Amino acid sequence: MSVVALVPAAGRGVRLGLGMPKALVPVNGESLLLRAVRGLLAAGCVQHVVVAAPPDQVELVAAELAELPAAHVVPGGSERTDSVRLALDVVGRIAPDARVVLVHDAARAFTPASVIRDVVRAVEQGAPAVIPVLPVSDTIKRVDESGDVVATVDRAELRAVQTPQGFAIDVLREAYAAAGDIATDDAGLVERIGGKVHTVAGHPDALKITTAFDLAVAESVLAAGAP
Ligand code: C5P
Repeated sequence: MSVVALVPAAGRGVRLGLGMPKALVPVNGESLLLRAVRGLLAAGCVQHVVVAAPPDQVELVAAELAELPAAHVVPGGSERTDSVRLALDVVGRIAPDARVVLVHDAARAFTPASVIRDVVRAVEQGAPAVIPVLPVSDTIKRVDESGDVVATVDRAELRAVQTPQGFAIDVLREAYAAAGDIATDDAGLVERIGGKVHTVAGHPDALKITTAFDLAVAESVLAAGAP
């Protein structure tokens, strides 16, 4: 039975401000997307990747991934939710035997293979939904509208969520069927339909490249000899 990863990469990358979709931003000459998709396939437990691209850039994104025949590119939608839905819709055609589906951020291009494997294994062992998480190292405060501190939250019970998030495919389909228009957290959709979400250990290298500073850090880590 195959495992399929969905990579919604149809955003415009406005926050990075580089005038191109964030997924196509190069780090040491290779885009975040190529690195992320190659990383998924190299983990050894993912057979296909479906990438949702900006509808007017499907060919460009397909060319970017041409070296990876297991990568399929589909036009994304106007919101991330639509892009995931459109990618999920083609899984039945690409891999009719798929029982496990991952949803991964292209921006987490340096996610270690061990995290990908741990997520897949936990779903294969019966968890309906699995997310990689890290303890929160910052102190977290709750504030009111005027910016005054209302409370200090006990961070021992908090976790920062990474990707890939893993799902039994029927559970993700059901969660998306019930979802509204805008959802940023796929596991949150499973929670909403009453599904249990299990956690596994994430990894600091799976950080989401969000700012120019993150990009610069990734460039210098790679320049220092990391894979
Ligand atoms: O813009 P934002 O950071 O919220 O996007 C989160 C992820 O969802 C990005 O990887 C982006 O490419 C993707 N996305 C998408 N389709 C959209 C909007 C965002 O696949 N219409």
